[in-house]
Amino acid sequence: MEKMLHATPTPTSLPGCFVFTPEQLPPATTAPVSLPTIDMSRSRDDVRRAVLEAGKELGFFQVVNHGVPEQLMRDMEAVGVDFFKMPAADKADFYSEDISKPHRLYSGTIYETGTEEYWRDCLRIAYDFPAGDHIKDWPDKPRNLREIVEKYILLARGVGMELLQLVCEATGLRRDYFEGGISGGDVILHINHYPVSPDPSKTLGLPPHCDRNLITVLLPGAVQGLEVAYKGDWIKVQPAPGTFVVNFGQQLEVVTNGMLKSIEHRATTNSTLARTSVATFIMPAGDCLIGPAEEFIDEDNPPL
Ligand code: OGA
Ligand code: NI
Repeated sequence: MEKMLHATPTPTSLPGCFVFTPEQLPPATTAPVSLPTIDMSRSRDDVRRAVLEAGKELGFFQVVNHGVPEQLMRDMEAVGVDFFKMPAADKADFYSEDISKPHRLYSGTIYETGTEEYWRDCLRIAYDFPAGDHIKDWPDKPRNLREIVEKYILLARGVGMELLQLVCEATGLRRDYFEGGISGGDVILHINHYPVSPDPSKTLGLPPHCDRNLITVLLPGAVQGLEVAYKGDWIKVQPAPGTFVVNFGQQLEVVTNGMLKSIEHRATTNSTLARTSVATFIMPAGDCLIGPAEEFIDEDNPPL
């Protein structure tokens, strides 16, 4: 637990291991580029056209009127905030550096590199859809965490699956292409906590990365922090209440043979406000073989 950033007082200056060079951390543009917002209550024709357009242009978009109650989104964010506010003793059982653990609390590192240090703490929770047998192993504090996370993860997964079906309809893939093993892995929830940082200009909460799953549904939280790569620049995503940020993962890029791209993004930190975001990842089952669908392959478009 000593490695958890949020459990120790904010240092007055940034420890060296968190410092990035200016080349590693080019500032974001100040140009007002905003992500396209897709109103999912519009006609199905409109929505699928918008998803395809946004997917080809930016690979990132926002959705509103997606069917997840705003109160549940607020509850999810609040329970994430409350988790990190609990005394260290209530969280210590979940702290682990073992990346094979499905549910764990950890800090700073990302993916298999495991060494870089970022200004982020994370609670990872896995849901074995549809059985839900994992729930008994989730943190049971705060008191309402299990109930809220279960409700939330099912609905957030539903939004992701609906968007995948719209991708099918828009591209000519059979409607159930993303059912079964390809979306049958555990649904992973990251409750990202970015504590107040001594120097946001020199560190990152998450380094530039692409998500490796099929599709990600992000509850960005109330504080700005997410930035998306766009034409050699970084654009800041302004969070809006009731809105999810959606991006395609690398597995979807593979299936569509590069037509829908998994775009790099990063998270910055803030010198006055802590930030909590909640990412839901839809993943293939571990034994599912992923390749480009034949609809995306022809003489001019060999498998990438
Ligand atoms: C992620 C991610 C962005 C954010 O968890 O993969 O990119 O704004 N999060 O927290
Ligand atoms: Ni990401």
